Amino acid sequence: MRLDRFLTKQAQFSRQRILQLIAQRQITVDQTVVSSRLHPVTAFSHIYINGQPLKANAPARYFMMNKPAGILSATVDSQHTTALELLHQTDTTGLHIAGRLDRATTGLLIITNDGQWSRRLTEPRQKIPKTYHVHTAYALSPTTQDAFARGILLKPEHITTQPAQLTWLTPQSVYLTIYEGRYHQVKRMFAAVGNRVTQLHRVSMGTIVLDETLKAGDYRPLNTAEIDSI
Ligand code: URA
Repeated sequence: MRLDRFLTKQAQFSRQRILQLIAQRQITVDQTVVSSRLHPVTAFSHIYINGQPLKANAPARYFMMNKPAGILSATVDSQHTTALELLHQTDTTGLHIAGRLDRATTGLLIITNDGQWSRRLTEPRQKIPKTYHVHTAYALSPTTQDAFARGILLKPEHITTQPAQLTWLTPQSVYLTIYEGRYHQVKRMFAAVGNRVTQLHRVSMGTIVLDETLKAGDYRPLNTAEIDSI
């Protein structure tokens, strides 16, 4: 594997930090000072950074869960059961939720210990599509589609949402695809057009689609194609 990939995956260094360390001649691999981020390494290479042997973090782990209603998108909580508790992992070091859901929201929840990967998945500027199945209290007005396509002003932040797409299923249920993941975004978008979300279920993030064979509360590791898609 290339040195930069190895360091970002195994030790969660940023690419910028790796380039800095290389420029400062601070990285050696098998006693050779590295001059390129493409330097080949294997799991058996002896890598030293600033004279210290690299302590690789735990291997990266990625899971998808079908989050049930009532479960908190959090690692620990004194009152409510959390998604991390449902994961039944003996070692939860570094595991965190990539794109939280409200307690009542169900569906695709991604849990990983790979911070860079989860940032790529969730940072608004990455514009990764997130699709939700939404049920509403009132029949949707025909103008909603245009309003969401133009963007909705989120007042406290003074941010207009990225153009979002609606697919009509019934008068009171739609698929909505958004490209950020701001606080209560879907509920606030429907509130802004005079409606109210009664049920919310996340179906996909990017090309990672909730495995519908997972019962509520079940989970599985992501496969390589799903991990590499982000
Ligand atoms: N938008 C919301 O309002 N709630 C969620 O749980 C996810 C997106």
